[in-house]
Amino acid sequence: MKRNKLNYNSKIKDIYANPIGHDVLYKLLLQLNKSEKLVTNPIIKNLSLKTVVSLTQKSLGTEFFDVLLELLNSEGEYPRTAQKGTKPTWWKEAVFYQIYPRSFMDSDGDGIGDIKGIISKLDYLKELGVDAIWLSPIYDSPNDDNGYDIRDYYDIMSEFGTMEDFERLLAEVHKRGMKLIMDLVVNHTSDEHTWFQEVIKKPESKYKEYYLFQKSKDENPPNNWTSFFSGTAWNYYKELDEWALHLFSKKQMDLNWDNENVRKDIQKMIRWWLTKGVDGFRLDVINYISKREGLPWGNKTVGELMGYYGIENYYYGPNLHKYLREIRAEAFEPFQAFSVGETPGVGMEMSKLLTADYRQELDMVFSFDHLETPGHVRFDDYQYDLNYLKEYLIHWMEHYGDACWMSLFYENHDNPRMISKVNNNPAFREPLAKLLAMIQLTLKGTPFIFQGQEIGSVNKTFQSINDLRDVESINLYKELIEKSSAENAFQKILSGSRDHARTPMQWNNKKNAGFTEGSPWIGTDEDYREWNVEKQLENGDSVLNFYKHLIQLRKEHKALTYGEFEAVNKKKKDRFTYYRKWEKEEFFIECNLSNSTLRRSSKAVGYELILSNYSEPAKELRPYEANLYKV
Ligand code: NOJ
Repeated sequence: MKRNKLNYNSKIKDIYANPIGHDVLYKLLLQLNKSEKLVTNPIIKNLSLKTVVSLTQKSLGTEFFDVLLELLNSEGEYPRTAQKGTKPTWWKEAVFYQIYPRSFMDSDGDGIGDIKGIISKLDYLKELGVDAIWLSPIYDSPNDDNGYDIRDYYDIMSEFGTMEDFERLLAEVHKRGMKLIMDLVVNHTSDEHTWFQEVIKKPESKYKEYYLFQKSKDENPPNNWTSFFSGTAWNYYKELDEWALHLFSKKQMDLNWDNENVRKDIQKMIRWWLTKGVDGFRLDVINYISKREGLPWGNKTVGELMGYYGIENYYYGPNLHKYLREIRAEAFEPFQAFSVGETPGVGMEMSKLLTADYRQELDMVFSFDHLETPGHVRFDDYQYDLNYLKEYLIHWMEHYGDACWMSLFYENHDNPRMISKVNNNPAFREPLAKLLAMIQLTLKGTPFIFQGQEIGSVNKTFQSINDLRDVESINLYKELIEKSSAENAFQKILSGSRDHARTPMQWNNKKNAGFTEGSPWIGTDEDYREWNVEKQLENGDSVLNFYKHLIQLRKEHKALTYGEFEAVNKKKKDRFTYYRKWEKEEFFIECNLSNSTLRRSSKAVGYELILSNYSEPAKELRPYEANLYKV
């Protein structure tokens, strides 16, 4: 449906009805710890934007509202609400498992995980109940950002193996009845990609238009945009006397998606992989591909609020929908390929417009709003309150709608381990790991398990900055030590480093946790002697077997996939209780989100207990207790 343009006479309620406006305000309210009622109450919702401007001018500045209006008006449509009933597909029923190849299994002793290593563990994944694998990038890359900087889309990184190895992997995955999706990194290429290299060699090359080159009026970068990996988002090339944009590392050059040839080349490459038989893609930072024309300067207020300058010009750019539809029609659709987009900063209403089945864009997205509690960023040292996760999940379960389908995840290769965020007291590690599994595998949506999550992995105790490998952590450390002590800088890095998720997978209690015969590219966590796959496979009560059991239940009972979600006593702090219902089948899930003892829910009386993270019965609900009952 189309809507009218917003302007300064528009009311708060009109802004809240706009999908972008809704998501921005919703997030702002969360950050300020205010209830949604603040914008829905009759006095506030009827205030005009003009009035808000005059009230907040001093703190936000008028320019901020111009930027906001432009962004809001760039979305002319809003999601339909009427659709009833979810259309079944394989990916709604699947349990996905993310492999970070570098850290999964090394077969040749060079200390780096590889494709043959993955093949050797496929039976393990099948046993666990995994239906589909998401493989982080395995393409040829100089590894400035561990493969997210692609040099050649048509080749395999030599450390990981050969194209034959990949083809065998794909065949072995399919032989076991599983599916494989690849990582599609097309917002940027490596600066070592031939397209970029051509430009440096020959400035008149047609590939110059493949990237975002700009002249500057003076010796400074063309605009104030900042990189997610510290500093300006621009590199200067003296051969051209021009600057090129990189939102990520200095070696990850942003592509110019407004150039039709770029889009055509990318679609061709996608079809090439789909012809090989891959089942779909996870699309890296896909909401960043369309940049606002002219690459306008980033608004100061937005920059200060978000920590990055320029973001409002590309996180939901003017041609995003068009480009996604094109990829779908030209590449995905003919192969019935599955797509899940990584979409940082995008909230629920915008996600609807990106994923609703009638929109023909993406199948699902990863939204990240639940990974930090309001007011915090990844590098803050704080304890994550699971009550926020509950609120977030209920909100999505109740409002995302039948035309959309949600991804369920807490971890990936870009985030510290969830258990460590919530409570790093070792006494709670096991019940907490199982509680998180219970929530993830009994809700409506597709669960994505990140390698190691299934054995209850926690953050590593890195000793110094020399132990870290990630470009983001290292750049941020350099930036921080200019303003604070080395000790403080390292503490901050420890809270948020992506390397916590990238330590070697812990297979057994032998040397290097069974990951490699050689010397691992990043240190193994010391706890591998106690926390490893082999040990947990032998123990019926392990976290690993808990995951296995839950996945099995999910496969056996439609109620746990397509069943309706009904929250009980939503407002009760520290308690997350809900039903899943499908035809005559009904399950009740009861979780204690805190490390204290709670009263047991009276609802559960008479239900049959199917699975619990505590083996003995008790009168009260123990710390992080999680139970699944059949009604
Ligand atoms: C998101 C990926 O998940 C992350 O690992 C990478 O650094 C950036 N995109 C840039 O590709």
